[in-house]
Amino acid sequence: MSNKNILITGATSGIGFAAAQLLAKQGHQIIACGRRQERLNKLIQNIDNQIYTLNFDVRDRSQVYDAIQKIPAAFRPIDVLVNNAGNAHGLAPVHEGSEEDWDAMLDINVKGALYVAKAIIKQDMIPQNHGHIIHVGSIAGKQAYANGNVYCASKFALDAIIQSMRLELLPHGIKVSGIHPGLVETEFSMVRFKGDKLRASKVYENIEPLQAEDIAQTIAFMINSPEHVNIADVVVFPKCQADAITVKRN
Ligand SMILES: NC(=O)c1ccc[n+]([C@@H]2O[C@H](COP(=O)([O-])OP(=O)(O)OC[C@H]3O[C@@H](n4cnc5c(N)ncnc54)[C@H](OP(=O)(O)O)[C@@H]3O)[C@@H](O)[C@H]2O)c1
Repeated sequence: MSNKNILITGATSGIGFAAAQLLAKQGHQIIACGRRQERLNKLIQNIDNQIYTLNFDVRDRSQVYDAIQKIPAAFRPIDVLVNNAGNAHGLAPVHEGSEEDWDAMLDINVKGALYVAKAIIKQDMIPQNHGHIIHVGSIAGKQAYANGNVYCASKFALDAIIQSMRLELLPHGIKVSGIHPGLVETEFSMVRFKGDKLRASKVYENIEPLQAEDIAQTIAFMINSPEHVNIADVVVFPKCQADAITVKRN
């Protein structure tokens, strides 16, 4: 297994945090990104020589381009981008939905992912004719569900972008993959329900959901696969889940 320079967005919690920890343990160099600096500091406590942190909001394209341009030479070229930052905001029918929530989801999950990918493809990957981009989508990007409308739309859009990018980047030797989780117990539901702990905990009541580490393991497997292998599209459910909405509770 060769060591790589891996940039992970959304590395302050959940899937991104777990992926940063695991991949650093495996010997890779990590550029961990997010807005909460104290969480990024927690990541570097034990493995600071292998982790470089970047604090930016993916919605702000000048912040994104500026931050990525300033990554030190020791962490470049970036071999792998784990484009993971994102969240659901709210769960309501369109006629009761919040415009602010719609803006947040489309700006973060779609446009934010585009800004980060564009910067890294141009700066690091095309010049090397090499690279691997793993987008974290969702089962919500494969199957729409009631009240999911704009979150589902953002992840369907991401899935379309993944498919286009795979074609666009083929001539440049850059692999493009999507991983689409089902229910993972992270801060995701706390963000979706705006800090309502009770409502968030109900999502995972009487089931054994995936943990962030489960998705991190799959991402690591995709990254550590031989160069000629592209694990292009992966859906990961907990055992208790059959599709976006069908879950067997105890
Ligand atoms: N948990 C699930 O059930 C599930 C299922 C399917 C797909 N997913 C997807 O998995 C990805 C990770 O989610 P998670 O479950 O690990 O949730 P999480 O624990 O809430 O993590 C979300 C991450 O995204 C970052 N982020 C959010 N908005 C950002 C912004 N504007 N700028 C920069 N970073 C931002 C957060 O960092 P800061 O707040 O520090 O910026 C945080 O690190 C998301 O794309 C989500 O849609 C999750």
